[in-house]
Order: sequence, then structure tokens, then C-alpha cells
Amino acid sequence: MKSKLKLEELVQDTRVSRKIYLENEIFMLEMERIFESNWVFLGHESELAAPGDFKTLTIGTQPAIMTRDEHGDIQVLMNRCMHRGSTVCQQERGNSPTFRCWYHGWTYNSKGELIGVPYADGYGAGFDRRKFSLLKAARVEKYRGLVFASLEADVERLTEYLGNAKYYIDLFMDLSPLGEVEARAGEHKYGYDGNWKFQQENGVDGYHPNFVHQAYFEAQGKELGRKVMGLFTGNSECDSKDLANGHSILDMTIKNRHGTRPVRNMLRGSTSQSSGAAYVASMTQRYGEARTAEILGASNVNLAIFPNLLIIGIQLRKTIPVSVTRTAVHLLPTTLKGVPDEINVARLRAHESFYGSAGGGAPDDVEMFNRCSEGLRVKGAEWLELSRGIEREHRDEEGNIVGHITDETPQRAFYRRWRALMCDAAALQPAKPLRAVPSL
Ligand code: FES
Ligand SMILES: [Fe+2]
Repeated sequence: MKSKLKLEELVQDTRVSRKIYLENEIFMLEMERIFESNWVFLGHESELAAPGDFKTLTIGTQPAIMTRDEHGDIQVLMNRCMHRGSTVCQQERGNSPTFRCWYHGWTYNSKGELIGVPYADGYGAGFDRRKFSLLKAARVEKYRGLVFASLEADVERLTEYLGNAKYYIDLFMDLSPLGEVEARAGEHKYGYDGNWKFQQENGVDGYHPNFVHQAYFEAQGKELGRKVMGLFTGNSECDSKDLANGHSILDMTIKNRHGTRPVRNMLRGSTSQSSGAAYVASMTQRYGEARTAEILGASNVNLAIFPNLLIIGIQLRKTIPVSVTRTAVHLLPTTLKGVPDEINVARLRAHESFYGSAGGGAPDDVEMFNRCSEGLRVKGAEWLELSRGIEREHRDEEGNIVGHITDETPQRAFYRRWRALMCDAAALQPAKPLRAVPSL
């Protein structure tokens, strides 16, 4: 009989077992030890502009509601009626000051408090509706408009968790001369028959673009296509970085050393000279010349925030585990506050051209996830190789591990964190109950 690998042996320094993509038992542990015990990305606060705005989502696979209460605070409620368990909200998005369960009519306010019970006298004098508030995420914090929640209360502050990734989030947000982006331009979605980790690995994989996306790059025209492909060759000057805590980046800011690139490139679209000039002027007024050059020069990044957020191009991309071999992905393209409309339109059109459902790029990545899922059914080969570049990595002055852009440094960063959460001594203790607390 073949010996079974233990959990801590499935993810090693330079290789991972195919089982972590295929076995339901491991998926269930990931939900508990990663998604239900730590910070996860939920959305952008601009999605909930007005009191009562809400959207439904999942934390791991548990249904939840993110809503803005009448005081303007963001609440994260578990979408589970405290009567007999039905979800209390079905809509993806909307505006409502209350959530009424369809089953027997119990009604909750946007803080999750039970405010209505039909025919309440049937419960007798001892019934205390304060004991039946919706469960809530134990922690909710924001950074530059990005909303994260944790079902476990005992986690570090979000700013500590984000650590060195904050520098790159700041660059993304500071592309607006007001320092704010909005995620109100719609949301587009796709899904694939494969494990959620494929998407998170791929968002910071600088080894694949010249193969998976070759046709798209070539279709951009000779000069531009060659330029983009040059970023991802073995001779590229660009880096990948392990930013700690599982976060990582493909950092294409090297061009900044040779001066700021034209606004047109930075925006990933075409704008008129007058719009571009007005934009640069407003940026310079707000940030000064040096910081403006830094922001514009560093806007080409693919940033992964463990476990479920990717910031790529103009988008916030959320990876949503559905089952061990099914994943949903939601893309929120952002617009910049305080810029001419023409610039935001150019950003959106450029985004659609690669990432849209009929775009030239993202569908090809999804095809790779499907193929990996299929190929990994071969039982004779256990391991996926992640050793590329391990012998040429170094640490920079910020403590990041730096590899070449085509190296598997980001994937090793992801799995170092995965292993720490899934396999450390504390995490190997028996499962705790639901890590959400009553809202009392
Ligand atoms: S299950 Fe919600 S009111 Fe009965
Ligand atoms: Fe790709």
C-alpha cells in the first residue's frame, strides 16, 4: 500500500503536491485555517456609497453581507437567519436599511440587530431578541478604501498584515490626484473548473505571459508587442518580490530609473495630449514632481495580497473559492477620482481589451487553469516544480526577497504563508467553532 503524505509534507520549499489542488479535505482545512482565521479582502468601500448600500459575498464559502449602516460604518454580517438558518439576503447588491428573512419574516437592521419578529407573543415573556442578532465578522478594517474582514478576532492590525505591500497599494491609489479610486464602474466575473490557488499563483507569474499571451501581444503591433514581451524575457530588468505574509509583486518599476514613461503608457490606454497634460499638472500640484514621477513610473505592477486579492492594471480582482475544483473570480475595474473623464474611459477600454470576458488575455489564463486541473489527474507525478530562481534570490533593504520577474519567487512567498497557516503547531489543533462573534 502506498504511504500517505502528511499535510506539512505537501508544500515544500521548492515544490508542492498535486493533492493541494484536488483533495476536498485539504480545501476544507484551507477554508478554516486560511479564509476563516485571517484577513480576507471583501471589496472597496466606494461600492457602498450610501447608508443602506449592501453587497452579498462569501468569506471562504460562508455567505455574508457587507453593508453601510446609518452612521456610515461598514458592517460585515453573516448571511444566516438566527431563527432557522435561511440566508436573509439574496440580492448581489442593493440598498436597504433592513434585511427581512423570507422564511418567517424575522427582520434585522444594518447592524444585524433583530428588530422584527412576527407574532412575537408566541415566544413568551423570556424571549430576548437581543440574543438573536446576526453573527458578524470579528474584525473589519480598511486600508486606502480596501475593505478586509477577519472572522477570527485575534489577528494583527490590517496595516501590520499588509506590511511592505502598503507601499504598492499607495502607488495604485495615488494615481488619483485626490488619492482615491472608485470601484463603481461595474463588476465582471468568470469562473473555472479548478482550484482557487491557480488564480492567485497566476496573477503574479511573470514566466507565462510570453507564451499564454503571445498572440495578444503580437496583435498590439510590432513595436508595442515587442516592448511588452521584453518585460517577461530572461533578459528583462524587472523583478519579482516576496513582500512577506504571502504578499508578492511583479515589479516593473525599473523603467523609472530611466525617467517617467509617457502618461499614455501609464494609463494603459490612449488619451489626448490635453487630458494627459492636465492630469500630470494636477498630479504634480498634489504630490510634487519627484513623487509624481515615482507614482507614474511605478504604475505597472501585479500585486498579490494573500489570500484572495490581486491588484492588476486598473482592477481589484477577488478570488473566490467555491469548491476544491471550482473557483469564481470577480473583477472590479477602478476609476481615478479627480481626473478628466477621458482618462477614466481610456483606462476602462484598455482594461476590457485584455481582461474583459471577450478580452485578449484573461480567457487564456483561465484555459491554463482548466488544463492544469486536467493534467494533475495523472497520478504518477506527484509534484509541481516551483524552484525557478531560488539560487539567484536576494534580500533588498526593505527585507523583501527579490527574484527575477520570470522567477517563482511570488509562488514560493504564497506557499510559505500557506504552510505557516495550515501546518503550524497551533493550527494543527482540533478545529475551533465558527470564528464569528455575536453582535451584542
Ligand atoms: S428562518 Fe428566518 S425567519 Fe425563520
Ligand atoms: Fe496571464
